[in-house]
Amino acid sequence: MEQELDPSVPCCQHLLSAILAMEPSECLISHARACGGGSITDQVQQFISDHCLSTPGDFHAPYLKTFLKKLITQVEFDRGCVLDHLYELYAHYISSFKDDSLGKRDGRICKRISFLFPDGCSELLSFPHSRVLVFSLQCSLNMLEGDTGCSIWPSSLFLSELILSHPELFSNKSCFEIGSGVGLVGLCLAHVKASKVILSDGDLSTLANMKFNLELNHLNVEDDMLQRNKDPNMVKCLHLPWESASESQLQDIMPDVVLGADVIYDPVCLPHLVRVLAMLLNQTNLGSCRQHASCKGHSPNIEHENGEHNHEYAIDKSDGGCKAIYNDGSSSLSKEAPVAYIAYVIRNIETFNYFLSLGKQANLDIVDLTDSLKPVNLLCYMKSYNQATVRLLRITCSNIRNIQ
Ligand SMILES: C[S@@+](CC[C@H](N)C(=O)[O-])C[C@H]1O[C@@H](n2cnc3c(N)ncnc32)[C@H](O)[C@@H]1O
Repeated sequence: MEQELDPSVPCCQHLLSAILAMEPSECLISHARACGGGSITDQVQQFISDHCLSTPGDFHAPYLKTFLKKLITQVEFDRGCVLDHLYELYAHYISSFKDDSLGKRDGRICKRISFLFPDGCSELLSFPHSRVLVFSLQCSLNMLEGDTGCSIWPSSLFLSELILSHPELFSNKSCFEIGSGVGLVGLCLAHVKASKVILSDGDLSTLANMKFNLELNHLNVEDDMLQRNKDPNMVKCLHLPWESASESQLQDIMPDVVLGADVIYDPVCLPHLVRVLAMLLNQTNLGSCRQHASCKGHSPNIEHENGEHNHEYAIDKSDGGCKAIYNDGSSSLSKEAPVAYIAYVIRNIETFNYFLSLGKQANLDIVDLTDSLKPVNLLCYMKSYNQATVRLLRITCSNIRNIQ
């Protein structure tokens, strides 16, 4: 009897992860072939049956039906032998799930995104014990539902890889995301132990879906910004349309790190987006200054002490991050300058250039980090996502004197 496939070998992990993430059928077929050294052998079919389809859950049915059809067609085309069990399963899906069943199911699906850490990465802080990290995410089949926020966009996959690859940039930091969509970035931030995770979106149905996803992944959701809860599993969710965001609304947030994935796309929204970024990054304008942990015992609010609003900082970027040293005579007082990481895919260069010009007008310092800060490729099984198409910006407030 031929040996069963080992589920822990990379090609089997890729096939299983691709099915859970609901990658297109062509992608699954190519992973299945890779497992069988070029053809979809009996062992590969047995692996699919035992490990990929054993607990499919109702929500997967129409997707699995399409995949099974493709799989059977491919094996027959190769003049191979289809396992009886796969024929039976396909017959079951045909009779149980008619084509209109998708509509009746409200168009919601649950994807499971697996981050696969390659050998040699297990020492990563974010990943001390296991080589696979899986998050479940309810998404919409209709990309435009929830003002685009109920789908997973490539930039949030990229930012998630960045967070898990460089946890030191986010761990123990207060992190705030704009346009959070399904909430994947927030799950990764909580995983690497950001000291605070605040997610936001301007669309209420997206926000409801995001909260559902956080709870699905065992995080607690808090709506009230004022509540100071030390629960490490607590994530705050805010309804924050950029158009109406005010300084007083942002005053309680004061993040160390601002994140945004695929938020640069609508020219109408860009002036508001840039205004929000400028308010979050230029925290001297927000009424009070945060204090770095090393400054205990000093005044937490140099702005109020001096009565000035235009402090000059020096910014030290030597370690890849940003540390601001206030240049107000108080040499012992230092604080991390807030920094934004924005991942984006250029779909329209004019829109992107418009964003850059608005950023300049708002005194934002925008640096392209794509070539210098690369995440590990943790989603190599996803053929629908290409890390190389995503670019990364670091944005700081340029009322800051760079000492580099
Ligand atoms: C293309 S989606 C990206 C979602 C998520 N960041 C991702 O990458 O998967 C853009 C997100 O920004 C939100 N958004 C768009 N315009 C907005 C606005 N004016 N104010 C607040 N959020 C907005 C949408 O609701 C949506 O969640």
